[in-house]
Amino acid sequence: MNSLMDFQLLLPPRVHFGWGARKDLGHLTATVGHRICLIAGSRALQKSTLWEEMTTNLKEHQVEVVSQVEIHREPTVEDVDETVREITGRKPFPDCVLAIGGGAAIDLGKAASAMLTNSKGRSVREFLEGVGTGAQLEEAPLPLVAVPTTSGTGTEATKNAVISVSEPACKKSLRSEQMVPRVVVVDPELTVSLPQSTTATSGMDALTQLIESYTSCRANVFTQSLCLDGLRDGFSSLEVAYRDGQNREARTAMSYAALLSGMALANSGLGMAHGVAAALGAVCGISHGLACAVMLPVAMRSNRKVALSRYAHIGRTVLPDVTGTDDEVTDALIKRVDSLLAELSISTRLRDYGVREDQLPEIAIGSRGNSLSGNPRPIETEELQKILEKCW
Ligand SMILES: [Fe+2]
Repeated sequence: MNSLMDFQLLLPPRVHFGWGARKDLGHLTATVGHRICLIAGSRALQKSTLWEEMTTNLKEHQVEVVSQVEIHREPTVEDVDETVREITGRKPFPDCVLAIGGGAAIDLGKAASAMLTNSKGRSVREFLEGVGTGAQLEEAPLPLVAVPTTSGTGTEATKNAVISVSEPACKKSLRSEQMVPRVVVVDPELTVSLPQSTTATSGMDALTQLIESYTSCRANVFTQSLCLDGLRDGFSSLEVAYRDGQNREARTAMSYAALLSGMALANSGLGMAHGVAAALGAVCGISHGLACAVMLPVAMRSNRKVALSRYAHIGRTVLPDVTGTDDEVTDALIKRVDSLLAELSISTRLRDYGVREDQLPEIAIGSRGNSLSGNPRPIETEELQKILEKCW
């Protein structure tokens, strides 16, 4: 473990968080650009009056949409390349990217804003960690405005975009400190129409990020305080938001938890659940939030010994009625995660998602990467495979 009191921070420079914060979108976007490439992720939102409000608000601030791209899945190399191809050479050329949607839209927005000024005819694949040719961003990306419509990935606050690669099947990051969104508008009201299943899986992503950032071997006092603050109300609010999507307090707590989880993970790293989630997504097509949800209790049990006092600290924060030793509080916390997943109708058996037993070795190998390197203890591929066999 590193020293908790030695850290650097990279955070978005401007954030407006609040119920109704979308009313500030035109004004804030106009501070970074007036000809936007709009990346839109949510079909349902685009049919709502909230969307109309936002587009009218942009016009009122002389912000013009010069191109619009739709994305309804986690972005692939092809999605990024096609977006860049479509916009390159277009007149007027955008001076800013505005992404309104879940993690997929914001990640595509981040990658597009970087590649529009850097691709020079090259595929984004060349720039990806692990599978690329080592190509680096040399020019500043177009400024990005991020407006999350789910409360999950926290990508609105981070410096990387996760891109799916087909050969070999994997998810890799395009990463640069210059890719942190310049403006972030988090309006929890935009999440009230989320379906129950997305509320559950994106919310579990945020909670997993907060727990893994807190226990990461690269955690520091600042990121840990963000994690505890996000978990304090977020942990109990997910169930409430799942049952009653209109609940303003619960939606606000979840959006706040997601934002803080992004700020924390960008500055501390994650752990085993996220490492395996990337492989489950790439090899078996399981959505990111769902994969995180399935792997969270597995990771907690597996890291329990080395991170016991940290889990106990989380337990005392989110379960104020539970008292006892670190062991007892950690037991109660893990049981609570189990019961939360049951409440959200999320199975914790990999086979229930179509994962085949013969895919487990590939998943174990594919789990290695940036996320796993933050795990509070090193895990060899063989051990990881055994862990996966147990939860298959
Ligand atoms: Fe995540």
